Amino acid sequence: MKSFLLKVSLLLFFLLKITNGDVLFSSLPRSLFVVVSTTEGQVLKAGEDNITVTFGLNQTVTNQSDESYKKVKVKLCYAPVSQMDRKWRKTNDNLKKDKTCQFTMYNKPYERNVEGFKWDIEKDVPTATYFVRSYVYNDADEEIAYGQTTNDKKSDNLFMIEGISGRSMSIDIASICFSAFALLSLVGFFFIEKRQSKVKS
Ligand SMILES: *[C@@H]1O[C@H](CO)[C@@H](O)[C@H](O)[C@H]1NC(C)=O
Ligand SMILES: *[C@@H]1O[C@H](CO)[C@@H](O)[C@H](O)[C@H]1NC(C)=O
Ligand SMILES: *[C@@H]1O[C@H](CO)[C@@H](O)[C@H](O)[C@H]1NC(C)=O
Repeated sequence: MKSFLLKVSLLLFFLLKITNGDVLFSSLPRSLFVVVSTTEGQVLKAGEDNITVTFGLNQTVTNQSDESYKKVKVKLCYAPVSQMDRKWRKTNDNLKKDKTCQFTMYNKPYERNVEGFKWDIEKDVPTATYFVRSYVYNDADEEIAYGQTTNDKKSDNLFMIEGISGRSMSIDIASICFSAFALLSLVGFFFIEKRQSKVKS
């Protein structure tokens, strides 16, 4: 009875998986490798610094065939310390709902090995602790394998990115206000000038 139930639930599980086209992270083999230029605990600046990534097939994983690999993506992902109390970054085993990896660093047709790809940290990357993960996709655009720079617990080899802070934000606001003021003054001067020339003529 027990084994029957198990079989039925396994069957249901696979049926659900097939019909939904949902991929569970826990079902993926870790058969890729990713190496980044960052060192453990390094602090980088968004909008200024860059990260060099080398990634591809981990050749030491026995017998993998990469025939079905069509596309590879490398993503910047939140480490658990930066996910706490933030449900908009929450990890979900269902990759369609997973919010761990929100920044795409690389997205191209599959190559077995990509050496030294440089990614400039985008300006909108917020202050947090990160790691890097890669996925390969099949024809149906489903994840079929992954690799990452950290361990399974996502606790080692992490680095930090300092977002463009509140300070430079207020500088931006100040400069916008200043431009608006300058524009208004210009318009003002234009009308005064016009009026004066009208009075004169
Ligand atoms: C490649 O896979 C092997 C076996 O799983 C693992 O021990 C090794 O750390 C991996 N290499 C890289 C660079 O991820
Ligand atoms: C990448 O960043 C490093 C330091 O983080 C810097 O020395 C190097 O010039 C940067 N490269 C480019 C092309 O921006
Ligand atoms: C690996 O695959 C080859 C054929 O592709 C096979 O001959 C070999 O036995 C396989 N090795 C392992 C360890 O599965």
